[in-house]
Amino acid sequence: MSRALEVRLAPTRQVRVRAMAKVNLDLRVLAKRPDGYHDLRTIFQTISLADSLDIAYTPGRQTDIEAEDSLNIPDNLVVRAARLAMEAMGARGRVELRLVKRIPMGAGLGGGSSDAAAVLLALPVLVGRTLDAARMRELAEQLGSDVPFFLLGGQAVGIGRGSELFPLPDQPACPGVLVAPGIHVSTPEAYRRLSPRLTSESLQNKIVSFQSRTWEPVSGVAGANDFEEVVFEQHPELAILKKRLVVAGASTAMMTGSGSALFGLFHNRDEVTRAIASLREEKTFRISLVNRVRYRAMWWQALKQHIDGRVWPPRSRYLR
Ligand code: C5P
Repeated sequence: MSRALEVRLAPTRQVRVRAMAKVNLDLRVLAKRPDGYHDLRTIFQTISLADSLDIAYTPGRQTDIEAEDSLNIPDNLVVRAARLAMEAMGARGRVELRLVKRIPMGAGLGGGSSDAAAVLLALPVLVGRTLDAARMRELAEQLGSDVPFFLLGGQAVGIGRGSELFPLPDQPACPGVLVAPGIHVSTPEAYRRLSPRLTSESLQNKIVSFQSRTWEPVSGVAGANDFEEVVFEQHPELAILKKRLVVAGASTAMMTGSGSALFGLFHNRDEVTRAIASLREEKTFRISLVNRVRYRAMWWQALKQHIDGRVWPPRSRYLR
């Protein structure tokens, strides 16, 4: 068959995936680095709240990427992710992306990062080319500090910019409540406020207490989020919401990322139901922590129809 005919007859391959949100079970900001970013110690955790993303790929002579989303997000990260992935694979064709946003934006839940990681994970499978794990991680890091975590999922320690990851053992699927008060916090702005308060005296304590938490990773045990101090100063209503989660019986109640969403973890679903009732005037979501086994199973389920004998999740050729 001629190449032109082959391209014309090539069918569209498509998939619908769930791009899950994350919370930070612990988040310490250590110091500003020469590259302008801050060194972190954090524990990421995927949660059940997710955006829905339809990705379709049709082989073609030139690359054309189209994205449509429920909120008309300017400069949507999914488009950049698709462009980087197509270039890295040396592939051409039409990529159509349709995103239904459920994860609140500017809330510290990593929604945009998760959407971008979902494109990196799914597109090579649809295109039928491999993009090994090391290359995929590099692209993820270019897209944003939180993106690499979503290639992994479950619970993981993030250091450096937050993109050097160390997987932690899976924890039980603890139920929880997410409160999204509709306040958009700018991440760079939150770092700017926090930066002058980072002292070398507090550094050692932070490192030691963070380490003790990762040596005994217990689901449902309170961590710390350094952004709470500066963000609560600007938005005192968030501190009140945190207290209300504690009063409702949360074993852990804290802000995620640079805010403004807060989450509470509970012992069982009945406690969650009562907590949601007590916060009825707020926008709340019932969530559960999603461990790595479930995260991978979800990805495998979504992509398996397009995987023929290739290894998934992608592995680095250097990791033998
Ligand atoms: O990497 P990302 O684009 O998500 O980061 C957004 C902004 O947050 C950066 O431009 C930087 O101002 C700040 N940031 C930081 N240190 C980090 C991560 C993010 O200062 N570790």
